[in-house]
Amino acid sequence: KGSFLLSIGSWRTTVKPLEQLQFQRRSAMASAKKDEVKVYPFYLANKPVTPNQAIEVLNKYTQEVGAKVARATPEDIDKAIGHAVEATEAMAELPAFTRQAILEKVVTEVTGRKEEFARALCMEAGKAIVDARGEVQRLIDTFKIAAGEAVRLSGEYLPVDYGPRGKGFQSIVRRFPIGPVSMVSPWNFPLNLVAHKVAPAIAAGCPFVLKPASRTPIGALLLGEILSKIEELPPGAFSILPCERDGADLFTTDDRLKLLTFTGSASVGWRMKDRAGKKKVVLELGGNAACIVEDLVPDLDGTVARLWFAGFYQSGQSCISLQRLYVHEKHYEDVKAKLVEETKKLKKGDPLDEDTKIGPIISEKEAIRMEEWVEKAVKAGGKVLVGGKRDGVLFDATILEDVPFKCEVVSEEIFGPILVISKYSDFKDAIKQANESRYGLQAGVFTNDLNKAFYAYEKLQVGGVLINDGPSTRFDNQPYGGLKDSGIEREGVKYAIEHMTEPKIMLMRNLGKL
Ligand code: SIN
Repeated sequence: KGSFLLSIGSWRTTVKPLEQLQFQRRSAMASAKKDEVKVYPFYLANKPVTPNQAIEVLNKYTQEVGAKVARATPEDIDKAIGHAVEATEAMAELPAFTRQAILEKVVTEVTGRKEEFARALCMEAGKAIVDARGEVQRLIDTFKIAAGEAVRLSGEYLPVDYGPRGKGFQSIVRRFPIGPVSMVSPWNFPLNLVAHKVAPAIAAGCPFVLKPASRTPIGALLLGEILSKIEELPPGAFSILPCERDGADLFTTDDRLKLLTFTGSASVGWRMKDRAGKKKVVLELGGNAACIVEDLVPDLDGTVARLWFAGFYQSGQSCISLQRLYVHEKHYEDVKAKLVEETKKLKKGDPLDEDTKIGPIISEKEAIRMEEWVEKAVKAGGKVLVGGKRDGVLFDATILEDVPFKCEVVSEEIFGPILVISKYSDFKDAIKQANESRYGLQAGVFTNDLNKAFYAYEKLQVGGVLINDGPSTRFDNQPYGGLKDSGIEREGVKYAIEHMTEPKIMLMRNLGKL
């Protein structure tokens, strides 16, 4: 595995153009002979680089090597940060219309390559093709939103004459780009969660270094390919550097980086924050989202259609996937029966199949963990209503009931197609149960009662409340992030830009006094 790459030798970014061409030809011939596995370069200071070390990216359904990506070393990361520092001023000086034009170019390019991007996601993340197409569209939307924000960044006129001390003073407050941003993105949305970091950084005028998840780096590298061809981006403005977690320390610890924005697991995120030094930190971490069904809105079918989607969309591998479903006793049996019936229809298997709803889990290890958690829940008295079985990397869409709180399937983040249903009689008590979690990302409430909707909005300890929908819906311009172990600060283009910029005041005395 990877032998032809290793035999090429150890040239790196300093290689001359002719040798580079020969290398590319040799690589192409070797790869055509040996297999069809594509090798993706990484991007250092806006340029593609293919060194002699590669990370193998598994096709998550077949478990065969689907592609290889160039692996960055700590020295590459160090160089990239140096280039980002050098690009800081040039990025900050880009006029708004240029930042907008860069973002619009990405929109145009990706729009022309939608299916290629979707298929790459299907391969590297095992994402069902329908979900993969949806994610590509969300990346396009996120860049479009950022293109709009780029020309809307404004400040304020701040009156300071609230007392005699301010007589004769005026002030303006503008936000300035923070400088080089460190980005670490997860495997579950290899495109759109990268877009939620990259697009705001460009809109704000910040250079960046990005470490995509080593299990799913291709989406970010396809974006890198597009960015590398955009001449308006100053040299050194961006680097996209796949590498394993060991060796990626600089993304967290290097003080030249002014902001760390991380999306991933709670355990990793909070440890990173402890080691991030003086830089600002944005963490978007896990969840075990709850939904309360007080009323059927608009009816049983309509409610259940949103519930199965919330629980099983992208095989439950979303931080806001519905995991804990609380249904009022007056509707419990109806919702349970209909939800089980609909869940049985969800096709599991090849993510490239247009009818597939449940693709593979990201790794067999994770699928085995899920299986163990379900077994423990059953031992503790839980009942499997549908599913519950694993077949390699595939896990059934599963519904459990009567599971005690202490079981991981209730109290921890499953990150798979498993949902636990429980009955309640009192709305306030259901809100309390939804809050009994160390996480707090989003929650859903189905109700026809506006009072109850507002009560839930006020009392639920989460970053977002959905009324008459499950918790897994997210719009790309909304503030997105959580409370408690789910993280700090918010993403969502405008909100991410706030973290990537800092307010600066200009206080002026005796102006306009002729
Ligand atoms: C996440 O898993 O946190 C992202 C969810 C989304 O963007 O829909």
